[in-house]
Amino acid sequence: MLVGISKAVIPAAGLGTRFLPATKAVPKELLPVVDVPAIQYVVAEAAAAGLTDILIVTGRGKDAIADHFDRAPDLERMLDAKGDAARLAAVRVPSELATVHTVRQGEPHGLGHAVWCARDHVGGEPFAVLLGDDLIDERDPLLTAMLAVQRRAGGSVITLMPVSAEQIALYGCAGVAPSELGVAPSAGLPEGDVVRVEALVEKPTPSQVLSHYAVIGRYVLHPAVFDVLERQEPGRGGEIQLTDAIATLATMPADQGGGVHGVVFRGRRYDTGDKLDYLKAVVCLASRHPDVGGEFRAWLTDFARSPEE
Ligand code: UTP
Repeated sequence: MLVGISKAVIPAAGLGTRFLPATKAVPKELLPVVDVPAIQYVVAEAAAAGLTDILIVTGRGKDAIADHFDRAPDLERMLDAKGDAARLAAVRVPSELATVHTVRQGEPHGLGHAVWCARDHVGGEPFAVLLGDDLIDERDPLLTAMLAVQRRAGGSVITLMPVSAEQIALYGCAGVAPSELGVAPSAGLPEGDVVRVEALVEKPTPSQVLSHYAVIGRYVLHPAVFDVLERQEPGRGGEIQLTDAIATLATMPADQGGGVHGVVFRGRRYDTGDKLDYLKAVVCLASRHPDVGGEFRAWLTDFARSPEE
């Protein structure tokens, strides 16, 4: 019997220095995008793709993340007594989306190290990684497409987003070749949007740039990545880089868990750890929000006409 992937790992132990001082005492993953914290969208995305066993990698000062996905009996009783059914339902959503576990990363040694902290929970099956501050619009079913590619190709699958020459230095950058793989019709991607990944370099200098394909925060990884991460030397910024470990997987034979494909993503994505992208996410989701969307759009249109307001 074919058993599908059921586990997702959400690294959320980073320090969020780009968003200080807001993130001095509040995890950046809990910053609200309208009235829902960023990481709740990420957990909902995993659950919508059928991944209901979720491990969040947290760290010092991040306990509120676990609280958010736990039941809140006093609050629920209070809302129930007031007859506030809508808010009661909203409070319960995070605890009902999935089974959420946590593990702590003692020190933020990098994204690769955060993923390595998940090794005991994940075991020997392929698993997804979703960055806790990276939002993919729910209308763009990227994760489902990635799971379909992994089912067909095995190995690991990463997400590649075309970016400008100026932007590529901020990301992991992929060297790619055409893939013999057609795209599963259900994946909702145009033909040709899956490539074979031959090399990766984290935050390339101009002479290291391999393409305009940037690695963004959705991965489906073969468990062989844990052995690679175990031996991984610190890379760019002195951190254990996930990109470096995936570069090693790309050079390994398939029978040892090697081989990496890239799904090219041209949809809507927001890095909520970045101030400008955070604002874009808030505007985009606010304008579609059932409570405030209509009024917000009208106000935004006026504001755009006279921005000094
Ligand atoms: P980022 O580089 O965006 O997170 O890592 P950061 O280090 O918190 O950000 P800045 O640059 O200081 O603002 C991407 C993801 O990896 C997690 C982060 O929480 C984020 O979800 N991460 C990063 C860890 O879990 N552990 C780490 O050691 C580093």
